[in-house]
Amino acid sequence: MNMPETLRPLTMALSKGRIFEETLPLLKAAGIEISEHPEQSRKLIIATSNPALRLIIVRASDVPTYVEYGAADLGIAGKDVLLEHAAQHPGGLYQPIDLNIARCRLSVAVRKGFDYDAAVKQGARLRVATKYTQAAREHFAAKGVHVDLIKLYGSMELAPLVGLADAIVDLVSTGNTLKANDLVAVEDIMPISSRLVVNRAALKTRHAELQPLLDAFEQASRARAAA
Ligand code: ATP
Ligand code: PRP
Repeated sequence: MNMPETLRPLTMALSKGRIFEETLPLLKAAGIEISEHPEQSRKLIIATSNPALRLIIVRASDVPTYVEYGAADLGIAGKDVLLEHAAQHPGGLYQPIDLNIARCRLSVAVRKGFDYDAAVKQGARLRVATKYTQAAREHFAAKGVHVDLIKLYGSMELAPLVGLADAIVDLVSTGNTLKANDLVAVEDIMPISSRLVVNRAALKTRHAELQPLLDAFEQASRARAAA
C-alpha cells in the first residue's frame, strides 16, 4: 500500500556525480545534511537530517520523468536534459530556479582541419552525432542547414574520429575532452546550467512544505552566484 501523501517525506530526485556534488553545498546552506553518500552506498533512497525530505538517486536524464510523474516532488536537472524532455512532454514541469550549478555550454564541434564553414555554405547534408537531438535539430533548422542526426548516448567525441559523423553537438566545459580527441568547437549553441524542477500537482497539494525549501534553494544559489 502506498504511504498517504501527508506522511510521505518530500522526495527530491538527483543524479550521482557532478549534480549531486554541486547540490550538496546548496542543501547544506539550507541546513540539510545527508545520512549517507551515494558514492559510498548502493542505496537509492537517502534520508536527510530533515525528516520531511528524502533524496532519490536516478540517472541524470531520468530526473524529469520521476518529477513529472510525481514519483519525486522536485529534482535537479541540466537545461540540456530538460530541453530534450520538454520536446516530448511540453509544459510538464515547473522550473522555478536556475541554480547556476553544473555550468557548461552546448556546442558544435568537428575534427581539427574539417572546414565546417565551407561544408555549411555548400549546402551539403551534414551528419551530426549527438545525445541532444532536439536542441541540435532546432539549432540547425534555425540556420537553414540540412542535417542527418545520429542519436548517441555518450562518447560523442568519438563519432567524427571514426567516420560516423562530420560534427557533434555535445557539452563543453574546460574543452579538455575536445582537445584530447583533436576536435574543435565551431559554434556555441547555448549556455547550460542545472535547474530545480517541481511536480505541478505537488506545487499545489504540498505547497506549504515545498515553499520553504524553494526559498532556501533560491537564497543559496543567489549567494553562490554572488560569491
Ligand atoms: P546520464 O547518466 O543520464 O547519461 P550524464 O552522464 O550526462 O547522464 P552527468 O555527466 O552527471 O550525467 O551530467 C549531468 C549534467 O551535468 C548534464 O545534464 C549537464 O547539464 C551537466 N554537465 C555535463 N557535463 C558537464 C561538464 N563537463 N561540466 C559541467 N557540467 C556538465
Ligand atoms: C561531459 C561531456 C563532455 C565533457 C566535456 O562528459 O559529454 O564529454 O563532459 O567536459 P570538458 O570540456 O571539461 O572536457 P562527462 O564528463 O559527463 O562524461 P560522460 O557524459 O561521458 O559521463
